[in-house]
Amino acid sequence: MRVTFFGPPGSGKGTQAERISEYYGLEHLSTGVLLREEIRSGSELGEIIRDTVESGRLVGDDIVNREVFGRIADVEDFLLDGYPRNIAQASDLDGYLDDLGRPLSGAVFIQVPDEEVIRRLTGRLVCACADGTRHSSGFEEGDICPECGNAFVRRIDDNREVVDNRLRQYHSLTAGLEDYYRGRLLSVDGMGSVEEVFRKLREALRPWA
Ligand code: AP5
Repeated sequence: MRVTFFGPPGSGKGTQAERISEYYGLEHLSTGVLLREEIRSGSELGEIIRDTVESGRLVGDDIVNREVFGRIADVEDFLLDGYPRNIAQASDLDGYLDDLGRPLSGAVFIQVPDEEVIRRLTGRLVCACADGTRHSSGFEEGDICPECGNAFVRRIDDNREVVDNRLRQYHSLTAGLEDYYRGRLLSVDGMGSVEEVFRKLREALRPWA
């Protein structure tokens, strides 16, 4: 199975992608994680990416395509999380996979309303060691993660102003993927508990497994 997850910021793509990739044995690739790794490396490119991410805008297609293509070239089954994020990226990805003879099985759209996005993201803390992949529940900013000993921090793009910008970018650039993927699209309601959404996704994805 070769699949992409898209949806608004905070719709649960990362949370569910981690579970689904483990369940179906897929390589999980999150462009948000890759870009945060580049930022943490302190490279010149990382500094450019930081400015963009901090403003809530999308990083340039060339940078993101390069990061993704290099990692999927030899991978048979994968789950892309947060990529593609606009029509140009989607079309570049299709072209790349067609050349490899391994087309995408399809795309999964996780739907969550804006008010829920704002509630989730402005309340989110992430473990400082985990590039935003481990989330806190019931902890305060600065509390120590019992799993790794690092502090829980707020992501640089999780303050209200930037969340609003991310939502604007989503509605103007990413939401159009619903049309782009018509005919190979699964839409899943992202509301409900993590376990409920995981169950809905497992069932929806079965035909592609
Ligand atoms: P990225 O890190 O991908 O951010 P995002 O898409 O905005 O998504 P998030 O990671 O915030 O949320 P999510 O949907 O993964 O939900 P999560 O599971 O974390 O990208 C960051 C930035 O990098 C972008 O803004 C852009 O600048 C750049 N970028 C990335 N990809 C790019 C690309 N392709 N092109 C250009 N630029 C790119 O959950 C969110 C919270 O909700 C968590 O606290 C979680 O615990 C909680 N939660 C999850 N599920 C539930 C549930 N069912 N009920 C209640 N709470 C839940």
